[in-house]
Amino acid sequence: MKTNLTNPIKKAAKVIQDGGIVLFPTETVYGIGANALNDEAVRKIFIAKGREQDNPLILHISEIEMLSQIAKNISKTEKMLMESFWPGPFTIILQKKEGIAEVATCGGDTVGVRMPSNPIAQEFIKEAKVPIAAPSANISGKPSGTKLSDIIEELQDKVDAIIDGGESEIGLESTVVRVVNDTVQILRPGKITKEDIQKVVPNVIVDEHVMGEMKPNEKVVSPGMKYRHYAPKTKCKLIYSDDASKMIHKILEEAQKLNHPLILAFEEDVKEYSGYPCLNLGSKYHLEEVSHNLFSALRQIDTFCTDGAIIEGVSQNGMGLAIMNRLIRACEHDYEEIKI
Ligand code: TXA
Ligand code: MG
Repeated sequence: MKTNLTNPIKKAAKVIQDGGIVLFPTETVYGIGANALNDEAVRKIFIAKGREQDNPLILHISEIEMLSQIAKNISKTEKMLMESFWPGPFTIILQKKEGIAEVATCGGDTVGVRMPSNPIAQEFIKEAKVPIAAPSANISGKPSGTKLSDIIEELQDKVDAIIDGGESEIGLESTVVRVVNDTVQILRPGKITKEDIQKVVPNVIVDEHVMGEMKPNEKVVSPGMKYRHYAPKTKCKLIYSDDASKMIHKILEEAQKLNHPLILAFEEDVKEYSGYPCLNLGSKYHLEEVSHNLFSALRQIDTFCTDGAIIEGVSQNGMGLAIMNRLIRACEHDYEEIKI
């Protein structure tokens, strides 16, 4: 068994050492990785994805010793966060060591670091013996890849090796935070929730751009916040109410305005939309199941013959915030909340 698993990983690690780029699994989503310390190699990732030049990459490490190569002045609070959430779906923006990973960090003085928990990702980084810079595996603007069948067509000719790790367990990208004066600022919500972080550090705030729209020329802390993301070609609208019957009523009203609507709904509500094509997002009481299904569902929207998709929202508590953050972007901020 072991040789089957180890060989492709060893081969892919050699590709990294030789300056190539590799499609590999993590517990959140697939990544496209390169040796973070090799600027030429990292440049290939930006080209493969069509990624904007000012949007830095996360550096992935397999053990804490690798951190001293890339980051400095780690505070007590940052250390506590690492001890609590690494390895796992959690990225911290740290002060960067000068003169390294210039392309990966877009020449900035900070670096996003994550230690993934997926055993294949861990072995891959260990074998490569360098921090691996990796964005999500998708052409920029499209939903992140959570299984190879969704992304193989758009990426297979652009990478030098592929490691198949089956479906991504979580399905949403990592939580991204930075620490400012002992307050944790969430820049991108994920499986590690605000509530989880509050158990370790009491002061946690969610950046206004997690749900809010950018104003023209506004500066953001995390460049990824300002770009079009996850949006299908089909026009999508997000609707939510704490009162499920009001939400369903509004969605049916919106559906009537379209010639061929498509509805994305939670398992509990699918029956309410009979007569309309419907994609089941999973149970609203099992948000881990919803996050696991989400990006594949968003990718399916354009395969329907539809003139608009209407998407059910969830409450923004716990993992609901991460799900709503991706959905509001998929809908390009066309969001309506019906008050009760
Ligand atoms: O789960 C994940 O985080 C996946 C897997 C592959 O690890 N990676 C991922 O990378 O989602 P990407 O590049 O798609 O998203 C990284 C986000 C972007 O929004 C980027 O702007 C932000 O993190 N980021 C990276 N480095 C940063 C830095 N130094 N300062 C501020 N934001 C940063
Ligand atoms: Mg991405």
